Amino acid sequence: MVGKRDDRSGADPVPGFDTLAVRGGVERTHYLEHSEPIFLTSSFVFENAAQAAARFAGDEPGYVYSRASNPTVTAFQDRLAALEGAEACVATASGMAAIMATVMSLTASGSHVVAARELFGATLQMFKILERFGVAVDYVKVTDTAQWRSALRPETKLCYLESPSNPLTEIADLAAIGAITREVGVQLVVDNCLSTPALQRPLALGADIVVHSATKYLDGQGRVLGGAVLGARKFIDETLVPFVRATGPTLSAFNAWVLLKGTETLGLRMERQCANALALARWLEAHPAVERVLYPGLESHPQHRLAMAQQSAGGAVIAFEVRGGDEQTRRRRAWQVIDNCRLLSITANLGDVKTTITHPASTTHARVGPEARLAAGIGEGLLRVAVGVEEVADLSADLARGLGVG
Ligand SMILES: Cc1ncc(COP(=O)(O)O)c(C=O)c1O
Repeated sequence: MVGKRDDRSGADPVPGFDTLAVRGGVERTHYLEHSEPIFLTSSFVFENAAQAAARFAGDEPGYVYSRASNPTVTAFQDRLAALEGAEACVATASGMAAIMATVMSLTASGSHVVAARELFGATLQMFKILERFGVAVDYVKVTDTAQWRSALRPETKLCYLESPSNPLTEIADLAAIGAITREVGVQLVVDNCLSTPALQRPLALGADIVVHSATKYLDGQGRVLGGAVLGARKFIDETLVPFVRATGPTLSAFNAWVLLKGTETLGLRMERQCANALALARWLEAHPAVERVLYPGLESHPQHRLAMAQQSAGGAVIAFEVRGGDEQTRRRRAWQVIDNCRLLSITANLGDVKTTITHPASTTHARVGPEARLAAGIGEGLLRVAVGVEEVADLSADLARGLGVG
C-alpha cells in the first residue's frame, strides 16, 4: 500500500496510511467517545443573533447548516484528504455528484473540456447533459498522451480521466498528462475510484483534482452512496464549497459515518481484494473459453509497467472477454457466464467485499449508445468482475460453470 510511514529523522513521524485510515479526522467531543459520533442535525444553534450573523458572514468559524458543513462529514473529509495527500476535501452525496460539482464549478458556457472516451457510463452521460449548457467536450483515447495535448484549446478548462478506467482498466500516464496540463494552466481531474488512495495517489503523480465514488471501495461493503472531491485548499474553499453550498449535492452525516467506518479497513480490504483479483485474473487467462483478460496486475496488460509504476497493486477489477462468434453469440455466452453464477452477485456495483459480476454493454454502459460503446472498446462479450474477499477457489468454480457451457 502507498503512503506507509514517512520517518523523517528529528521530526515526529508522519502517521502511515493504515494509521491515518483509522485515526485521521478524529476530533472528540467533550464526552470523549471512542467511535466517531454521528451528528444527525440539519442545523446548528447560535448563542445570539450577533453570532448567527458572524457565522453566516464567515467571520466566525463554526457550523451553520448541514447542506454546507457537518462535523461527521468534516471528519470523513479530513480523513480522506490525509489518505490522498490533499490539502482539502469536499464530500458529496454520490460519485456523480462529486464529478458534476467539479466539472460545473470549473466551467461556464463556452468552456471546453477534454475527456477520456473510456469512462464510466454515467460520466459520459453527464458530459452529454453539460453540452446542452454550452460546454464543449472532445474525447481522446485515455492511453494516448499525444491526443491529450493536441485536443487542448485556448478555452479548455479541464482534462478528465479515470485510471484505471471502468470497466477496461486502461491506464493513463498521469505524470505525462499532468506535465502537459500544467504547462497550459488546465486542471487535470482524475477519478481514483478503482485504485483508491490505498494503491495510488494521483495528486502526487500529476493531477490537480481527485474525484471519488465513495460508494465503492471507501465504503467497501455496498451500503451507502457517497462521493468526494480533493485538491488544493484554494480551489476547494473558494470554488467548490460555494458551489456545493448553493446547489446542495451534500453528503449526509449518516452516510459520512458509514464511510468513516469503511475507510478504517480500506488498506486491509484492498490488500486481500487485489491478491484475489490477481489470482483470479491468472486463472481466467488460462481458461480456453476466455479470449482476453484485462487486469493491470497481469504482465499481458498493455500498460502493465506503467500501472505498476503508478499503483502499488493491480486493483480488484477484472475485465474479460468470452471467446468466439459474432457479437450476438458473444452476448449469449457472456450472459451464460452470469446466469450460471451462484456465488458472484449479479449487480453493477463494485468495490464490495462480495464479488460482483456485470455485463457492461447491457448495464453500466447501456445508455451511452453503441457508437460510444464501440469507441470505448466495450463489446458484447465483455464481462466485468469486481473481486471481493471470498476464497478464490470458490470464485473460479462459480465462473467455470458458465464458461464451460457451450
Ligand atoms: C469509476 C466510477 N466513477 C464514478 C462512479 C459514480 O459513482 P456513484 O454511483 O457513487 O454516483 C462510478 C459508479 O459506478 C464509477 O465506477
